[in-house]
Amino acid sequence: MATAKAKVPKPTATKTKSIKPDLGLNDEQQQIVVNILKPLLADETVLYIKLRNFHWNVTGPQFQPLHALFENQYDELADIIDEVAERIRQHGENAPGTLVEFQKLARLTEQPGVYPDARTMIANALADHEALVRQIRQDIDVIDDDADEAGSEDLLTGILQKHQKMAWMLRAHLEGQ
Ligand SMILES: [Fe+2]
Repeated sequence: MATAKAKVPKPTATKTKSIKPDLGLNDEQQQIVVNILKPLLADETVLYIKLRNFHWNVTGPQFQPLHALFENQYDELADIIDEVAERIRQHGENAPGTLVEFQKLARLTEQPGVYPDARTMIANALADHEALVRQIRQDIDVIDDDADEAGSEDLLTGILQKHQKMAWMLRAHLEGQ
């Protein structure tokens, strides 16, 4: 019987050369920022997949607009994910890039095998956006107080605003029903 397991070549080198960033931040400051960005990257990835799931599986009379709305939002999240991952690299660390790591780091949760009605999907995605808004606002405060890193604060402020806008769009759907 055929097996789906791919033959993956063994890595030949375990360590690549890395140059320590000289950005005026000490190791502790860098670590504070990276420790905030890694779980955020995982949460954004969980929500990205959830929005794809809803885009694929939404049903009902609002199918077309919701199918499109979920797509717009996961496109937005794809950009956020890229920015957060590249920010981790800018602070000198590898960005987590496997589902196993994302699952360990994420705070947002999934409901495997559950296909809720359209209204519940919207409420579920809204709750995740709102949880991220609360989390990111707290993260900005910690980076400001403990790492004093304006670059990451600015990035997170932009992401916060995007989640606030996406949350409003979902909330407006619920208010109109
Ligand atoms: Fe699609």
